[in-house]
Amino acid sequence: MYLGSTPFDTLLDSAIRQGALTTTDIADILHFRIFGNPQGFLLLKNQDIGDVPATPADRKTLIKPDYRSELLLLQATALLGDSIGYPQESDGSLINNFFPQAGKARQLSSASFDTELDLHTKNALHEVPPDFLALLCLRAAPRDDAITYIASVDKMLEVIDAETTDLLFQESFNFLSDYCLSEKSCRIDLGRHRPMLYGQRDRPYLRLDPHFMLARSARMQRLIEEIKEIAWSVAQPVRLAAGDLLIIDNRRAAHARSAFQAQFDGRDRWIQRTFAISHQRQLIGETGEPSRIIGLRPHAQ
Ligand SMILES: [Fe+2]
Repeated sequence: MYLGSTPFDTLLDSAIRQGALTTTDIADILHFRIFGNPQGFLLLKNQDIGDVPATPADRKTLIKPDYRSELLLLQATALLGDSIGYPQESDGSLINNFFPQAGKARQLSSASFDTELDLHTKNALHEVPPDFLALLCLRAAPRDDAITYIASVDKMLEVIDAETTDLLFQESFNFLSDYCLSEKSCRIDLGRHRPMLYGQRDRPYLRLDPHFMLARSARMQRLIEEIKEIAWSVAQPVRLAAGDLLIIDNRRAAHARSAFQAQFDGRDRWIQRTFAISHQRQLIGETGEPSRIIGLRPHAQ
């Protein structure tokens, strides 16, 4: 455990009190959380990430004595909401570390590095998707070939007509699960039928994961492809540099990442990621469960 035996709440308390975000950054994050923006993401550059050791070869060898990046990331996360994790993501870690691992190449997961991922909202099928993702870049890809793409629902709706927008609120798609203990990238039918758009008509929330969505007809299957193409047509590319903090509104934007090269020499790309939700107290009220690690609830509707 690279954070030693420090309890998470102790780390979080230090983050709130000692995180290095400037007052301007804090205002920008709060403004983004409360008001959003048309592009669906916020990029804050040149953050203090402290001393970053060589990029490790795998999570078992991850040792990072300087916690400044973790404190900064948790400070940003606390401004966005409550920090959560999922059992299926990095074994429920509240701070996920991503770097190329030789054995995990070509898998369709966040640990992969040479597979292009399609535009998606995180945990689209989950009862409790993250409201926000926060990504802190500790080291850029050595060839600067890793590109994060973000497609906001507002930009998508600029090119989707009103009739199709109505359809996206009404038509349900079966969101499949890729959560298997034995293998990655499986597709399990949990009967999670949901529309792609939900919430306010003028400012909708988005649920999109084309590779894990099934339609009830060939026509609706084509609609998934159309929406996917529209998302790509409005997607904005971001190349993360060391010290960049990228915050994505996961209910208002889809994201993807390009393939990139890895060298396994300690200089590979390294990203730290957290999730925030906006309604943890409501969840605790409903479930009586205060855990920050939120599993699938297969029987919930
Ligand atoms: Fe993702």
